[in-house]
Amino acid sequence: PVPLVIDTDTAQDDCVALLVGLLDPEADLRAITMVAGNVGFDRQVRNAFLTLSVAGRLGEVPIHLGCRRPMVRPWESAENVHGDGAGGLTMDESGLSAESEHAVDTLIRLAAENPGELSVVAIGPLTNIAMAAVKDPDFAKNVKALYIMGGSNNGRGNITAAAEFNFYVDPEAAKTVFAAGFEITVVPWDPLTLRYAVFGQSRLDELAALGTPLSDFFIRVCAATLEFDRSVGIDGTTHPDSLTAALLLHRELITSSDRYNVDVETAGELTRGYSAMSWGVHGLEPNAVVVERVDSEGFFSYLKKLLSTPTVPS
Ligand code: BDR
Ligand code: CA
Repeated sequence: PVPLVIDTDTAQDDCVALLVGLLDPEADLRAITMVAGNVGFDRQVRNAFLTLSVAGRLGEVPIHLGCRRPMVRPWESAENVHGDGAGGLTMDESGLSAESEHAVDTLIRLAAENPGELSVVAIGPLTNIAMAAVKDPDFAKNVKALYIMGGSNNGRGNITAAAEFNFYVDPEAAKTVFAAGFEITVVPWDPLTLRYAVFGQSRLDELAALGTPLSDFFIRVCAATLEFDRSVGIDGTTHPDSLTAALLLHRELITSSDRYNVDVETAGELTRGYSAMSWGVHGLEPNAVVVERVDSEGFFSYLKKLLSTPTVPS
């Protein structure tokens, strides 16, 4: 199995990405690290505990708290998209506590313990990853692979016309990470997610019909964003984060990718967080693989199988 950490702003599809890390036999999830993003920080932590619980893995994978705001800017959320991020689900939280070690130190430590072996799936703003790279100059080379959900490679954003949410929230962090020397694979919002990782009603019905605790959880946590997505003309739920985790474990789902030079706008008036993805004609050194196409049916079947796993919520 692949040793990995998932760095997350846990709401909706982040929960599904955690299920990938928790339940796929190919994954050896060493830690969950939390970063400010989608919804209130403490709410995100509760959503991560909820996900561990529904997967029957409570107490088995540590949760570490990371940066509560971006590197230089105030935190901005996506609560209008996600609600509480878990469809109103609650659990008995008594006795639950996150680890005392800060997420940035956890990332650095786990990567340094086995240099070149740990992979990181970053599905929120890149604050923790950038801070780890700033704090430990060896962090980037100690990490085997960094899979990032963020940006777009057609210039179209979801939070502004030009920017995708994760890069918009902490553009300085994103810029730092792309300059730090990681082996990066990027899973962009547009066009990749919108073309290949949206589940419309018939797919959602198919998943609901599984009738497992995991499929019930999936439908519930995706409900708030489904409503939002429909209001903006996307006919289904969006799954960029779980796709990112799945691609690390199953590269065969990637049907097209290329090496790009990726950089992130921090100064623009209208373009804060815009991801400049240059595909080779501009003479810039590539620093990332950008995923261009995936096996959409294969990804859906993969998640369907995952959500069929019989679990006993803990
Ligand atoms: C990204 O932003 C968040 O709302 C989602 O969790 C995903 O990581 C998509 O832009
Ligand atoms: Ca996310």
